[in-house]
Amino acid sequence: MSSSSKSALSALGRRSDAPPITWLMILALSRPKLISLAAGFTDQETLPNTETLSLLTDILGDSKRGKAALQYGTTQGDPVLRELTSLRLLQQDQAAVARWAESRCDSAGNRSAVSATSLDVSAYAPERMILTHGSQQLLYLTCEALCDEGDIVLVEDPTYFVFLGIAQSRAIDCRGVKLDPDGLDLDSLEAQLERLKKSGEIKKLKFLYLVSYYQNPSSVTTSRAKKAAALKLLRRYERAAGHPIYLLEDAAYRELRFEGDDVPSLLAEPGAAERVIYAGTYSKPFATGIRVGFGLMPEALQTVCLRLKGNHDFGTANLLQQIVARSIQTGIYAKHVAMLRKRYADKAAVILHALEENLPSSCSWLKPNGGLYVWTALPKHAKAGQKGKFFQAALDAEVLYVPGEVCYAEDKSRPRPANEMRLTFGGASEDAIREGVRRLGKAVGKFYGKS
Ligand SMILES: Cc1ncc(COP(=O)(O)O)c(C=O)c1O
Repeated sequence: MSSSSKSALSALGRRSDAPPITWLMILALSRPKLISLAAGFTDQETLPNTETLSLLTDILGDSKRGKAALQYGTTQGDPVLRELTSLRLLQQDQAAVARWAESRCDSAGNRSAVSATSLDVSAYAPERMILTHGSQQLLYLTCEALCDEGDIVLVEDPTYFVFLGIAQSRAIDCRGVKLDPDGLDLDSLEAQLERLKKSGEIKKLKFLYLVSYYQNPSSVTTSRAKKAAALKLLRRYERAAGHPIYLLEDAAYRELRFEGDDVPSLLAEPGAAERVIYAGTYSKPFATGIRVGFGLMPEALQTVCLRLKGNHDFGTANLLQQIVARSIQTGIYAKHVAMLRKRYADKAAVILHALEENLPSSCSWLKPNGGLYVWTALPKHAKAGQKGKFFQAALDAEVLYVPGEVCYAEDKSRPRPANEMRLTFGGASEDAIREGVRRLGKAVGKFYGKS
């Protein structure tokens, strides 16, 4: 870019780096032979092509419905889809809480004090919801509504790297909280909060961003008890902060569960709705090309997000919202999700088997119960970063992964681990997954030994 054109840019325009997703996509597209275990694409083979065609015919075949769908909608989003989404979410949480209570049944068979009926239904009200262009837009709106330059957001270590891109662009200072195989590390959260309080920076802390289900990149799920405890901890520091500290629960992968029980969302916790922003999406469980997401949030925040969205686009594409609404009404959506869960269970088994077969015992990985990712660690001293020789060797062997280090915030209080990789079994076929992991295994053997 010439210096004269650069001078016209805003501070935000000048500051924004190219997100890693851009160069990952460019790499994948520029090498036709490349097997990408990198981009978080969903399963190509089972994308609902015929189902979407029938939904479209259904919508456009009815003149009144069709014309309404081809017209602008509202900024907040279609009332029918909000109603359907709110009901689905409530039912999901009711079932998850009932299951949770059951699993805590004592030996005398008494139910836990918490029952499904104790949920605060108003937390799920369609009036509290905004439909967005993917849940990505909701993440952006939340940052825009809550954070000025230099404000602080707590994120998991590691976290969704595209969220870190938003933060970088908006000059938000992200601080990492350790993530354990069973979710957010509460001691680490408390230590971060204490540190911020001592330094006076707590006044800049706006929210904790938590990818709570089958997290991107680690596939870790944070339990109900840990989520509730994290929210309680944040509230303890609100007096020092001088304002509410929110918790943004990103549930992008919630529906892609293939093992274990669903975990209730934070909306199910009594009194939590006034501090929780819940972000969900129809993109991953149905079709990523239909970017419809949603968010539920406290009223004061929602008013601001609606104003901002009004400036962004004054409403998510109406036709796409109608496709999603119709897919739920007809049962096509539920059928598709059930099929996808089975599909991802099979593909996860393929990648885990391939890792077992091809990676030496000096490597380790977390077994996913849902989502699209396998978080894989090379030996501690290994360097898997984009500029390193190993990444290049993998690329020369025509296999691509996401270097784990891009998933860590630039937090000076700890080094960024460099030996990890995010692998996905989402987009590639089973054969491609097997071959991709075989190539990766060869590169690992060459650099870090075969045992
Ligand atoms: C954790 C997480 N949140 C949000 C999103 C955004 O998804 P979408 O905008 O398609 O809903 C993604 C996409 O990969 C994600 O991984």
